[in-house]
Amino acid sequence: MDSPFKPDVLKGKVALITGGGSGIGFEISSQFGKHGASIAIMGRRRQVLDDAVSELRSLGIPAIGLEGDVRKAEDARRVVESTYQHFGRIDILVNAAAGNFLAAAEDLSTNGFRTVLDIDAVGTFNMCHEALKYLKKGGPGRDSSSGGGSILNISATLHYTASWYQIHVSAAKAAVDATTRNLALEWGTDYEIRVNGIAPGPIQGTPGMSKLVPDEIESKVRENMPLYKLGDKWDIAMAALYLSCDSGKYVNGLIMPVDNGLWLGKPRHLPREAVKQLSRVVEKRSRTKPVGLPTSKL
Ligand code: COA
Repeated sequence: MDSPFKPDVLKGKVALITGGGSGIGFEISSQFGKHGASIAIMGRRRQVLDDAVSELRSLGIPAIGLEGDVRKAEDARRVVESTYQHFGRIDILVNAAAGNFLAAAEDLSTNGFRTVLDIDAVGTFNMCHEALKYLKKGGPGRDSSSGGGSILNISATLHYTASWYQIHVSAAKAAVDATTRNLALEWGTDYEIRVNGIAPGPIQGTPGMSKLVPDEIESKVRENMPLYKLGDKWDIAMAALYLSCDSGKYVNGLIMPVDNGLWLGKPRHLPREAVKQLSRVVEKRSRTKPVGLPTSKL
């Protein structure tokens, strides 16, 4: 699908994207690149990075791939430094790296729980912490008129209510969202850095989707969720563009669900045709015999 944004909305900007070699992270990388940004992607797998960088460069996008694990503060520091050394500035940090698997709470080990919190929550904090120096207003490579840069954290909607077999991920994404809001407050005030989040719904063609909603259970999920509809990676990348370019200049601390309203989903307990009739009956009954009043008042 074509982008509704002008192709130069990120012209001259440099974006560092964790987990940028595959899935949603790669789509954000390529859309940011198509809109004028230079791209550094960070990931753990060299081959994935190399393939992604070749694809970006084949589109004419200046891109580099930097190996590292967001769980390690020293990797975060090295990757941030390398991005700055290579491109001379950093304007946007996108934290899209995540870990996930399905596991019932009682079968999950402490290390399993901690691993996902480490990747999602600690990893997001590490990257933000190391990138602060370059993103803050007046930081290295920033012209004095341009203010601070921006951060975008990818979370999920799992923790808005509760999710089966996702206690580790729900806890991790809740921590990511809390990090987003706290940094928006502190760094928005002190450094003019905007910090926002996107909470994607089920997005087709992603590692997350194939892990959390494997083909074997997809039709069952559809039956139980009235608003269930798969999104495209493009949907997330367009939200990311909105929040990261000037269109989002007054938006700070927002966590935007991009899920077709799925998180609101509640099964319908009464058909629409029946609600009118039942409602009248209930109304009539309550007029003739008020409910909840003590009998002495009747
Ligand atoms: N069910 C239950 N526990 C699991 C599990 C599963 N399917 N997969 C991993 N674990 C547990 C491991 O058993 C281990 O705990 P233990 O030491 O008590 O046995 C712990 O999680 C860490 O696993 P390990 O494989 O050593 O971690 P890793 O750092 O190599 O990999 C993962 C991290 C598990 C999150 C891996 O799936 C990953 O790298 N994911 C990144 C890609 C991804 O998930 N993308 C989707 C994003 S939505």
